[in-house]
Amino acid sequence: MSTVFLEVLRQLSHDDFASGEHIARRLGCSRATINNAVREANEAGVAVHAVQGRGYRLAEPLDWLNPSALAGLLESAGFRFHYFERLPSTNTFLLDEARHGAPHRTLAVAEWQTEGRGRRGRSWLASLGNGLAFSLLWRSGRTAAELSGLSLAVGVILVRTLRGLGLAQSSVKWPNDILVEGKKLAGVLIELSGDMLGPSTAVIGVGLNLHGGDSLSRAVGQPVTDLSAHLGRVDRNAVFLALVRALDEGLARFEQGGFAAFRAEWNACHAYHEHTVDVLTGQDERISGQAVGVDDLGALLLETPSGVRRFHSGEVSLRGASS
Ligand code: BTN
Repeated sequence: MSTVFLEVLRQLSHDDFASGEHIARRLGCSRATINNAVREANEAGVAVHAVQGRGYRLAEPLDWLNPSALAGLLESAGFRFHYFERLPSTNTFLLDEARHGAPHRTLAVAEWQTEGRGRRGRSWLASLGNGLAFSLLWRSGRTAAELSGLSLAVGVILVRTLRGLGLAQSSVKWPNDILVEGKKLAGVLIELSGDMLGPSTAVIGVGLNLHGGDSLSRAVGQPVTDLSAHLGRVDRNAVFLALVRALDEGLARFEQGGFAAFRAEWNACHAYHEHTVDVLTGQDERISGQAVGVDDLGALLLETPSGVRRFHSGEVSLRGASS
């Protein structure tokens, strides 16, 4: 896809209607290029309407990030900030940067992430303007084993921030899905490197749906929601900044106290705390029991007829109990 595609959409964000000819003149390209860009926009899920005699118009306003304002604020707070209009994956980008020595608190955000990755090898979908996709590189003095509860701590930090933005019903589902009324709002992908005894590097990726939850539900075949469905119009830049600041503070707390410092709050935020749940293991085994909390490393404690069992997040997924 050409980069003209995003420039055309930016133009259409400023004007109510704009003719193909007008946009082509502004961007210094041909009328045919604009036609192609509009087709690409529609294919990418951004509806552009063409009205005879008036030109093109966005069906819904697009919510853009403001890279220069974000860079000013984040760089003055000490982050190394990378903004991309379009990027396959912010996590993949930062993993590569980390290997090349990128510093602690390097942050990458994509206006549009085209090959987002989720946990357990899944994809993370978000069309242009409909989500937030960003990753933070965190260099930790803790060993990789001590970071096993990090993803749960990040879940708590996100829930606390969302509640602060007015989303009182947000909760976490072990290990770190963010839910609202049983539907997925956000996910966290943490990728660690480092040896067992030494300092570690974590790339912490966060994907949050801002709009388009219904079409995502259809695309992924599970209940998905978005922030605007609960809060009305949201400011994408403000939500991004609130999440980054909260993560930065929370991760510093994790560095001091490990997951133990978050455990009680995590249990209080767990959507299934003291509920009967099914745990599905990698071997397709289904184990039912009561979720009775997590331990200091973030493992799920499940009370079963044969005693309390402990599950680590790489191995299993959790469901509300089947009836
Ligand atoms: C999940 O729930 O499966 C985790 C989803 C994590 C998605 C985020 S979006 C930003 C970062 N870059 C990626 O490729 N994935 C994470």
